Amino acid sequence: MQTYYVTTPIYYVNDEPHLGHMYTTIAADILARYERLSGKDVFFLTGADEHGQKVQQAAEVRGIEPIELADQVVERYATLWPELSISNDDFIRTSSERHHKAVHAMWKRLQDAGAIYKGFYEDWYCVPCETYWTETQLKDADCWESHHCPDCQRDVEKIQEESYFFRLSDYQERLIDYIKEHPDFIAPESRRNEVLSFVEGGLRDLSVSRTTFSWGIPVPDDDKHVIYVWIDALTNYLTAAGFPDQEIPKHWPADVHLIGKDILRFHAVYWSCMLMAAGLPLPKRVFAHGWWTVDGEKMSKSKGNALRPLDLLKGYDADVLRYFLVREVPFGQDGDFSHQALKMRYNSELANDVGNLLNRSLAMLKKYNGSVLGACAEEQDMDRALIADVEAMQRDVNDLLHRQAFHLALERINQVVKHGNRYVEDNAPWGLAKSGDLTRLNTVLYHLVETLRLIAIQLSPFMPEKMTLMLQQIMNEDIDVSKLRLLDEAGWGKLKEGHQCQAPSPIFPRMDLD
Ligand code: MSP
Repeated sequence: MQTYYVTTPIYYVNDEPHLGHMYTTIAADILARYERLSGKDVFFLTGADEHGQKVQQAAEVRGIEPIELADQVVERYATLWPELSISNDDFIRTSSERHHKAVHAMWKRLQDAGAIYKGFYEDWYCVPCETYWTETQLKDADCWESHHCPDCQRDVEKIQEESYFFRLSDYQERLIDYIKEHPDFIAPESRRNEVLSFVEGGLRDLSVSRTTFSWGIPVPDDDKHVIYVWIDALTNYLTAAGFPDQEIPKHWPADVHLIGKDILRFHAVYWSCMLMAAGLPLPKRVFAHGWWTVDGEKMSKSKGNALRPLDLLKGYDADVLRYFLVREVPFGQDGDFSHQALKMRYNSELANDVGNLLNRSLAMLKKYNGSVLGACAEEQDMDRALIADVEAMQRDVNDLLHRQAFHLALERINQVVKHGNRYVEDNAPWGLAKSGDLTRLNTVLYHLVETLRLIAIQLSPFMPEKMTLMLQQIMNEDIDVSKLRLLDEAGWGKLKEGHQCQAPSPIFPRMDLD
C-alpha cells in the first residue's frame, strides 16, 4: 500500500495554543484525511517541542520545572485536537525516551560522517526566537546599534562558549543542486527562490550545542553540552516514524512537512543538510504557509489579541473554522482573520450553496417520492454535463490537494455545487411534478442526490462532522467518514433505485451577521 506521511511543526510549550498552531494542524489533518480516503497508508504527526532555553525560562518565571510546564501545555493540545477533529496518528514529545534515543542516534551518524567538530562560539542570540545572529547580520538589518533581533525586535544577548559545530558549509553546493533538481521540494515558489538565494549567499557552520542551560538532550559522552534545540526538534519527524530502530522507517521520507514561513530556513536548509550528512533521504516537500493577522493586526501576547482555538470553538463549529481557514486565504499567503469575513463566507458558500442544494433536493425527493430514489431514465445532455463536472472535479481536487492548494480545491467543489443548483433551476422538478412527467422527475432527483453524495465525500476531509451528517441524510445509515475509500465510494451510480433517503435537516443554518 502506498504510504503518505504528513507533519506539522512541533509546537513550543511556552505558549498556549493559538490560531497559528490550529491553522497548520487543520491543514495537515485535511491532507491526512484526504490521503486516507484515497486509500493510502497515512501517518499524520504533530507534537510538542519541549526543550530549549525559552521553555526553561518560561518555567522559571512560573516557578515550576520545565517538564511540569511541558506537561501542562501538552495536555492543552491533547484536549484541543479532538475538539477540532484532528486525526493525528501520533503525538511526539521531545522529552520522551524514544526521542532522546533518536536524537542520540542522529548525532552519532553526523559525528561518524565527520560532520561535527568542537570549536568556540561567539555570537548574538535571540532567546525568544532561539536564533543566532552574526554581527554582520545585525548590521545589515540595522539592529546593531540597538542590539535587537531582526525578526522579533527583542533584545539579543552576546554568547561566548565552547560549542560543537555542524559542517553546514560543506553541504551548500549539494543543497543548491538538490533544490534545483527537485522543483517541488520547497513551496510556494517564492519561498523556494528565497531559500535558494539564501543558500547561494553562503552557509556558515552551525553551532549545535549549548553549555549555558541544561533543559535539553545532552551531547553523547559530553553532558556539559546540550544539543541545540533545532537539531533536537527537527529529528522528531524521524523519531515518530520509527528511527533509529528502523534505519529508514516505513513512512520515511515524509511526503510533506507543513510549516509557517518563519521556520522555513530550519526545515529547508538545516534539516536537509542534516539528512544529507546522515545519509538519509530528504522529505519530498516542505510547504511554508503564511501568517494570520487578526482584524489587520499582528497577533501578540503583549497585545493580548492572540485568537485562542477554544474561544473560537465557543462561537463556531469546528468544521466551520476548518473550512474558513483554508478557504479564505491561499495556502502560502498571509491572511487576515475577521468574524465578519468568516460569517460572510459561511453564509454564501455553505448556507446558501451547499446547504441549499442539500435541503431543496432532499425536500423535493420527500415531497414527490417519499424520500425514495426512483428509476433513472435515459440521460439527457444536462445530466451528462453534471456527471462530467463531478468526475472532473474529483480529479482536480486530487491534483490541487497534492499541491496544497486547499482554497482552489474548495472552489472547485463549490463550482459543482453551483452547477447542481443551476441544474435544479434548469430542470424545474416542480414543473415536472405538475405536468406528471415522473420519469424525468425521478431522473433529475437521482442526479441531484448522487451529486450531493459525491460532493459530501470530497468535502469530508475538510468538514468531517458536517459531512457525516450530510451523508447520513443521503445514505440513511450511520456513517464513519474516516472509513470511506474513494475506490469503493466515489464512482457515479452507487446509489440504486429504491434507495431510501432521509428527510432534510439543515446542517448549515444561516448565521446572523451581527
Ligand atoms: N518549535 C518550533 C517548530 C519546530 S518544528 C521541528 C516552533 N514552534 S512555535 O510554536 O513557535 O510555532 C509553530 C508554528 O506556528 C510555526 O509554523 C509558525 O509559523 C506558526 N505560527 C505562529 N504564529 C502564526 C500566525 N500568526 N499565523 C500562522 N501561523 C503562525 O516554531
